[in-house]
Amino acid sequence: MFKQKTLLILGLSVLLILTLAAAAAASTTGISGTVKDINTGTAISGATISDGTHSVTSDANGNYTLSEPSGSYTLHISKSGYLTTSQICTVGSGTVTVNWSLTKQYGTQTPPAYANKMQYAIFAWNDLGMHCDQDDYSYFSVLPPFNTLHVQVIKRPDLVTKGITVKYNFPKKTDSTLHTNFWQYAPQYGWNVPPNTGITGTKLSGTMQLDSNGLGYVATGIPITPYDDDGTWDPYGAANITVVDSNNKILQTASVVAPVSTEMDCKNCHGTTNPQLDILQKHDKYNGTTLAADQAKGIVHSCSECHSDNALGAPGKAGVESLSLAMHNFHKDKMTYTQAAANTTPSCYNCHPGPNTQCLRGIMERAGKTCTDCHGDMYGMTTSLQNGRQAWLQEPQCGQCHDSIHKENANTLYRNSVMNNAVYGDMNGKFYCESCHNSTHAEFTTANPADQTIPQKFQGDNYWIWNCKVCHQENYTQQNFHAAAGKSSD
Ligand code: HEC
Ligand code: HEC
Ligand code: HEC
Ligand code: HEC
Ligand code: HEC
Ligand code: HEC
Ligand code: HEC
Repeated sequence: MFKQKTLLILGLSVLLILTLAAAAAASTTGISGTVKDINTGTAISGATISDGTHSVTSDANGNYTLSEPSGSYTLHISKSGYLTTSQICTVGSGTVTVNWSLTKQYGTQTPPAYANKMQYAIFAWNDLGMHCDQDDYSYFSVLPPFNTLHVQVIKRPDLVTKGITVKYNFPKKTDSTLHTNFWQYAPQYGWNVPPNTGITGTKLSGTMQLDSNGLGYVATGIPITPYDDDGTWDPYGAANITVVDSNNKILQTASVVAPVSTEMDCKNCHGTTNPQLDILQKHDKYNGTTLAADQAKGIVHSCSECHSDNALGAPGKAGVESLSLAMHNFHKDKMTYTQAAANTTPSCYNCHPGPNTQCLRGIMERAGKTCTDCHGDMYGMTTSLQNGRQAWLQEPQCGQCHDSIHKENANTLYRNSVMNNAVYGDMNGKFYCESCHNSTHAEFTTANPADQTIPQKFQGDNYWIWNCKVCHQENYTQQNFHAAAGKSSD
């Protein structure tokens, strides 16, 4: 009896100690993580991480811990031989993980010899880093063939927006009708456009228009497919950009990628025989629609006929969820429906392109970030939309991780933001973030060589645009571009 009681008391006190220990651990708040080299993945020791008040040095395994009370912090890291960089984080109850992937210092490379002498430079990029379209439009349309290219032209150092013509063409993609039946069905989807013409009237080659900010040139809605004319699958096909003067004399040329993929793997769960029919049948079964019967009669529907879609400016029908909300919400608890789907990582690649396309390839991906780090998971996507986020118009921001001098313009998407805090004020308000950093999901330096043509040609490396020489003939001393407050040179 007595023995048992002691054991019980002992047991209780052990429990108590354990509880106390757990409470103590929970009350320790702070930041910890690992520092690595982004290229080799090797741990970096001796890097200094500072939050402004405290600093710590990474150990032999690259690990560090900073004890801090809960709150928001901007962390800076420095290590000789590497670029300095920052991340912001919020400490709650417990320890938050902030890992680092450092890039080797640049600044000594010189641009290629001809670039030293060139008069004109071209920045060119596509807006999103990836567009999706379909091989087959005979059942329904989610999104039509649609790609958008942007160009900014520099006559060193000035931005040029008049007196020139900017042309584009795809040497290997001249006839999209070889690879998609889109134009056969386009009128039914509400787009009365001739073959090889996009829904905004843009063709596979042509002249770019001045963009709405008057800073550069744009071709909106180019109807390319992921296939070359000879049938080769290439979701990273290149466009040639040619800048000519009023006498049609070529001033400069460049090549830029226009990424597009049809790799929406609905078949992972909707059967390989006829996933499109299966989708329509399931939709009819749950929502009382007649999409499958209509299709059998030759009547096809665009999802955006009923579900609003900001990607297309489609208002949808009153009371029906937006397409993004309907899709992410309905599928959020079905992501392991089949083994094929469960095996797909990141799981977003079940519907976004994709295990073969690898649309996520920018420096953040190389630093170990994935879709959910920026967008949230299927539940997070759903909740944000239910709480009022507007699909396509409100997206993640660089400024949610980087410090306040490296963020977008207020209430503006990354792709529409321009640099306003340049080291020299004269450079402000002129250059899109994407002209130096490239599109989202493909931010320099990327894992895909197809993305790197512009910095390769004008700067001589794969980095984002960092070299003053790309835009200036002068030999300026290299320094950071983003300043805390834009300085004026005069
Ligand atoms: C989810 C957090 C997150 C978001 C959002 C994010 N980044 Fe990053 N970024 C990182 C991390 C982590 C690194 C690796 C360097 C480091 O460890 O701080 C990095 C590195 C970079 C670098 C290299 C900097 C250097 O000196 O090493 C650039 C340039 C960059 N990001 C640009 C962007 C741009 C442009 C956007 C917005 C389109 C963006 N980032 C959004 C986390 C993020
Ligand atoms: C990870 C698995 C998975 C993937 C990938 C997937 N679905 Fe589904 N989907 C399901 C399941 C499970 C159902 C419900 C089937 C049932 O109840 O019989 C469903 C149902 C649907 C429905 C009917 C929902 C309703 O209530 O109307 C539509 C529409 C749909 N899917 C569209 C798509 C499209 C388009 C794609 C590709 C872009 C896709 N799905 C990819 C698992 C998936
Ligand atoms: C004729 C109108 C119509 C068309 C066309 C249509 N839908 Fe729907 N859809 C509805 C209605 C109505 C609902 C049920 C109400 C709601 O979700 O707001 C629905 C529901 C859904 C749901 C389930 C949402 C949920 O949370 O349960 C998904 C997923 C979906 N639709 C996807 C699609 C896709 C993908 C397409 C194109 C292939 C499509 N729909 C075309 C009218 C339509
Ligand atoms: C480093 C952060 C980051 C990661 C990782 C990331 N995204 Fe994004 N995503 C963004 C930002 C920023 C935008 C908005 C860019 C803009 O349009 O200005 C965006 C936009 C999008 C869009 C809307 C279309 C567009 O490009 O504007 C889709 C779809 C998308 N992301 C899907 C994904 C998927 C799927 C993954 C993973 C395979 C992913 N994203 C990973 C930051 C990220
Ligand atoms: C079941 C298929 C499916 C899955 C899985 C899926 N998506 Fe999507 N997603 C879609 C479709 C279809 C659209 C296009 C809707 C449209 O045209 O408006 C879309 C659009 C988007 C957009 C742009 C619209 C918006 O809400 O801003 C983002 C961002 C996005 N997806 C992120 C993700 C992320 C992140 C994941 C993984 C966590 C994911 N998606 C998983 C089908 C899916
Ligand atoms: C993307 C192109 C670009 C890059 C890269 C660039 N600049 Fe500029 N810079 C400009 C433009 C455009 C102006 C404004 C020229 C004007 O007003 O006529 C300018 C103006 C200046 C001026 C004011 C004197 C002048 O020539 O008008 C200085 C000084 C300057 N930049 C320094 C730098 C330094 C230092 C770097 C490298 C850290 C750099 N710039 C990188 C485009 C660039
Ligand atoms: C003229 C070229 C240029 C433009 C335009 C530009 N950047 Fe940068 N960006 C750089 C350079 C060079 C660096 C690295 C040195 C520095 O921080 O100034 C950099 C660094 C960054 C980083 C990494 C910061 C870190 O801590 O490692 C982010 C994030 C970033 N820029 C975001 C943006 C955003 C958002 C815009 C548009 C509002 C933008 N940049 C416009 C040249 C540019």
